Amino acid sequence: MSATLVRGLPPPLGREPSSRPDGTALLSALPVAVLLLDAGNRFRYANHAAEQFLGLSMVQLAQHALGDLVPADSPIFLLIEQVRQNGVTISEYDLTLESPRLHKQSVTVQGSPLPEEPDCVVLVLQDASAARALDRQLTFRSAARSVTGMAAILAHEVKNPLSGIRGAAQLLESSVNAADRELTLLIRDEADRIRALVDRMEIFGEKPVERAAVNIHRVLEHVRRLAQNGFAAHLRLHEVYDPSLPPAWGNRDQLVQVVLNLVKNAAEAITAGGVANGEITLTTGFQHGVRLAVPGSERRRHLPLLVAVRDNGPGIPEDIRPNLFDPFVSSKPTGSGLGLALVAKIVADHGGLIEVDSRPGRTEFRLHLPVVHDESEGG
Ligand SMILES: Nc1ncnc2c1ncn2[C@@H]1O[C@H](COP(=O)(O)OP(=O)(O)OP(=O)(O)O)[C@@H](O)[C@H]1O
Ligand SMILES: [Mg+2]
Repeated sequence: MSATLVRGLPPPLGREPSSRPDGTALLSALPVAVLLLDAGNRFRYANHAAEQFLGLSMVQLAQHALGDLVPADSPIFLLIEQVRQNGVTISEYDLTLESPRLHKQSVTVQGSPLPEEPDCVVLVLQDASAARALDRQLTFRSAARSVTGMAAILAHEVKNPLSGIRGAAQLLESSVNAADRELTLLIRDEADRIRALVDRMEIFGEKPVERAAVNIHRVLEHVRRLAQNGFAAHLRLHEVYDPSLPPAWGNRDQLVQVVLNLVKNAAEAITAGGVANGEITLTTGFQHGVRLAVPGSERRRHLPLLVAVRDNGPGIPEDIRPNLFDPFVSSKPTGSGLGLALVAKIVADHGGLIEVDSRPGRTEFRLHLPVVHDESEGG
């Protein structure tokens, strides 16, 4: 093996090496590709997943620089340079890597500086189909198309006969006895329920979003008030806000709907799970270096606004996770399964991104949104 390859993690500060598991073993076990590049972008380390990803062994990689495998105009070099210059971690979703060796693939890349080794950059690469956030977005886009058509059909074909049914039941109400009136009321209530469902579906139509500067804290406050005066009255709501956040570039009402759906789900999960000290935490923050490729162009959209909704409920049921954002996926007896499909649709319309982390006792949905004047920047 070449001497230029680093065989493990650089020693963390202030710890006895013997108290840690072997860094190389840890890195090898990771399912994501981890690479260490030196100042000349030569490979100094590649874990097992990275060897597989690049199709070369560590020994072979030691003879190469990244520029030998990827064309010089690849956006990955820009990302690496920015990490070096700014000394911060940068994540890019949907970056296209194209080369004869790698073919064309879409990856999520995270580049980080290594404080102990100036000019070295750690790259973490994940195939886009394995990167959950992106995967969900893609899954959603196809789901949205089918829902868009269905919403239009429902609106036209269901609403009219429904109001006929409802009107007829109302007419009957005045001429039947008390026992039968219960039945006519049932018809009316159920007709109302279907109508509400159809109304909710209509947002899936292809209308362009009207956007303006939105104070995200006002959105969160509005939702918090609704929640505390209604469905989450019995729960504690925490706020961890970054007061210096710039305005989001979005549609206020739709963003209220997004946060409301997330907070409602959190409250319902806590209640259904019988959690004694139910707690929902709303967090905002500014994150440099989160960006998403704009489909069909060279541009990148910066998504520095972070809004997170966390709960200490039982976590998302394992069996629905792969289709979490699809319409009609629900684990609740009376759930329509439209909440998260709607969230994903609105976030996608805003050019943003949604991610989720869930385990028992801690579920977090994170929204990454664009800010005003920045929504379609290059870079
Ligand atoms: N915070 C959460 N904790 C645990 N499970 C969740 C959470 N958020 C969503 N889920 C799961 O995801 C499913 C889908 O959520 P979604 O909001 O799309 O539909 P729903 O809440 O079931 O129905 P609707 O929102 O239409 O009333 C839920 O049924 C639930 O199983
Ligand atoms: Mg819901």
